[in-house]
Amino acid sequence: ASGRMTGNVWLSIRATLMLFLLNWSQCIQYNGLTVDPPENLTILDPGHLGSLQIHWSPPASLLNMKDCHKRFQLEYFNTYEDQWTIIRTSKRTYSAQFDLGKQVQVRVYTLLKGSCTNGSEVKSARYTELIKEPTSTGLVGTAVQDFVCVFHRMEYVECKWERDPKQPANSLPTLYFWHNELEQTEECPKYIISNGIRSGCTFTGKSLPDFTDINFCVNGSSPEGPMKPSFITLQIQNHVKPAATQILQLQARPDTQLELSWESPAGKVPKNCLEWEVEHSEEGPDGNHLSETISTTGTMETLLSISDKSRICVRVRSKMHKYCANEGFWSDWSVWTCYPGNVFFFFFSLLFLLILCSCGASGRRFSRVI
Ligand SMILES: *[C@@H]1O[C@H](CO)[C@@H](O)[C@H](O)[C@H]1NC(C)=O
Ligand SMILES: *[C@@H]1O[C@H](CO)[C@@H](O)[C@H](O)[C@H]1NC(C)=O
Ligand SMILES: *[C@@H]1O[C@H](CO)[C@@H](O)[C@H](O)[C@H]1NC(C)=O
Repeated sequence: ASGRMTGNVWLSIRATLMLFLLNWSQCIQYNGLTVDPPENLTILDPGHLGSLQIHWSPPASLLNMKDCHKRFQLEYFNTYEDQWTIIRTSKRTYSAQFDLGKQVQVRVYTLLKGSCTNGSEVKSARYTELIKEPTSTGLVGTAVQDFVCVFHRMEYVECKWERDPKQPANSLPTLYFWHNELEQTEECPKYIISNGIRSGCTFTGKSLPDFTDINFCVNGSSPEGPMKPSFITLQIQNHVKPAATQILQLQARPDTQLELSWESPAGKVPKNCLEWEVEHSEEGPDGNHLSETISTTGTMETLLSISDKSRICVRVRSKMHKYCANEGFWSDWSVWTCYPGNVFFFFFSLLFLLILCSCGASGRRFSRVI
């Protein structure tokens, strides 16, 4: 019997020791106070293609703690930035954007501050962690590639994708999207079909909102099984492509300089949000070409110097300036406009003039125009 006694005592000593070690190594003891990590960490997927709700509760050991303020430190692995994002909050819930095609990894700590901690903020040594593997499966090599959205002239959005070469021939891709103003996901309103297959989506009807995340998912089915879904999140103001400039004017000035001016392109892009690139190409009498590109912001005119006897051609394109958007696409180039103008135009004008002169009309005035 005494053997069992010593055994029991030993067991209880061991348990105490282990408990102490656990406390000592995993929790911070402050003023005899242990700060435990939060409990009941859950991640809720409301089906918004990547916008997940994270919930947790304060540790049961601190539930009756009245003289100290509880906050939480939430950390999640941000796959878009390839680093951890850290948030401090006194709430018990947080919504964050995740790429559902990748692992979701979330950690929370408890933060305690007040008279119980002597005024300093104490963080729990341990964290509570939740890891969710991507649930969406699909056939390897069936995910669409090179997903690109363009907000044309700030009027309508068009998203396109490429087919993976390994994708089964008669697979049918589908695009779903969600943003803050929608109760639930919606399917693409109008697919773009090229060579008989779905290669994109045009957003018709009510336009997508700017300055808010739009979540897209391209999945689909094929005779061999479901396609591997792709998840994309973007804000459309960063995907603007202005229209090409239509009106470009070149005017000679008395001081051998050319005045180039143009008008803002069609569409809804604010004029003061555009930056410009002007390409000018000079053709000397010896047939040599000389090209140069100049950039301007704000103004829609510039001066170019020309040498005698050469012909100069210019074209412009525009893009959203970084003051207005993080990124954007260059517009297509305008058509070339040249000085002196088109040779054929010159020839026909001359012919017209000759006819006018031979009719005795006031040819002088016309010759000055040319
Ligand atoms: C965590 O969840 C369990 C089971 O639902 C519950 O009994 C417990 O009280 C919860 N803990 C806290 C701190 O809310
Ligand atoms: C708390 O702060 C007071 C005043 O700064 C100090 O005298 C006391 O030792 C502190 N107590 C602990 C447990 O750190
Ligand atoms: C594609 O995703 C949408 C939205 O999550 C879902 O409703 C639909 O069932 C999926 N389609 C396939 C073929 O997996």
